[in-house]
Amino acid sequence: MVRAKVLVTGCVGFIGSHLAETLLSKGYSVIGVDCLTPYYSQKIKQYNLNSLLKSDGFKFVRLDLSASSIDHLVQLVRKADVVVHEAAQPGVRSSWGVDFEIYIRHNVLATQKLLEAGVRSESVKRFVYASSSSVYGNVREVQLREDMTPRPYSPYGVTKLAAENLCKVYHDNFGVPVVVLRYFTVYGPRQRPDMAFHRFIKAMFRGESIHIYGDGGQIRDFTYVGDVVDATIKAIESDDVVGEVINIGSSRPIKLIDAVNLIANILGVKPKIMFEDERKGDVRVTYADISKARRLLGWKPKTELREGLEKEIEWLREAMELGLI
Ligand code: UGA
Repeated sequence: MVRAKVLVTGCVGFIGSHLAETLLSKGYSVIGVDCLTPYYSQKIKQYNLNSLLKSDGFKFVRLDLSASSIDHLVQLVRKADVVVHEAAQPGVRSSWGVDFEIYIRHNVLATQKLLEAGVRSESVKRFVYASSSSVYGNVREVQLREDMTPRPYSPYGVTKLAAENLCKVYHDNFGVPVVVLRYFTVYGPRQRPDMAFHRFIKAMFRGESIHIYGDGGQIRDFTYVGDVVDATIKAIESDDVVGEVINIGSSRPIKLIDAVNLIANILGVKPKIMFEDERKGDVRVTYADISKARRLLGWKPKTELREGLEKEIEWLREAMELGLI
């Protein structure tokens, strides 16, 4: 069977690199786009890229989508059958102040240009947008369903919702075959260095204190990266999903402090914890209703938190030995 050619934006990042790798292993060709923003260590990104470059089916294009002409993007998009738009400026807590401009550029403008190129190329059969649970905002003790009114609580969430809305207007007006996936706090090997588990595991390895923002009672629906990749590929391959918004979460929420204790238990250490002020933009609870993903994608998460954490720990150990971190 001839597999489609997939354009993966953000291909050297945490989720994008796993997605590109899995697509290649399934026989897809991948055109990977990334601009290697300086948000975190270039060593990690370069390592992810080098490993992708070993595959014959992979082609890399270094490009800042937000700074590219639409004509140029049309040429690029025409080379693929499917676009998966993972590229973004991530991070909830760092989206305040002057840096908001970066979020507007990489999350809103880049998405609009890519969608415009999708229209003009007349070749895109599926356009998957990687959105975020942060569009929901501070909804307490309730399972988050796709039909709820999104009320983002951080500037980051505002930009992810704006991009989702762009996907919708390009779908409604021009028929771009868009699918929006709302990922819930993704973790696992290659997790970004600004994210909680990465920071906690590294600190525990080094015998340093971990810093919890707030009382540790915040609840997150931590979702394993392999499961997220699996759902994303199903969004490429499934019929009847165009125009849909779909939650991708483990649907097994846990208090942050309990996750800290689980990591400490796996590592066999006693964590040193410093409690700090809650950070602006952080929501109290995320908990995905995933019935739509089950129904439309035939997807369900497979990885238990302990198993996923063990894999992230293993990766971090290797990355530290290699001097990437
Ligand atoms: C994560 C990603 O960073 C976002 O890019 C993504 O869009 C979002 O998930 C999502 O679900 O959509 P977040 O839930 O804040 O955002 O994930 P973590 O960085 O892993 O933080 C989890 C919790 O740990 C937060 O409450 C955070 O304040 C807390 N935390 C983080 C600490 O207490 N200490 C730290 O050192 C880091």
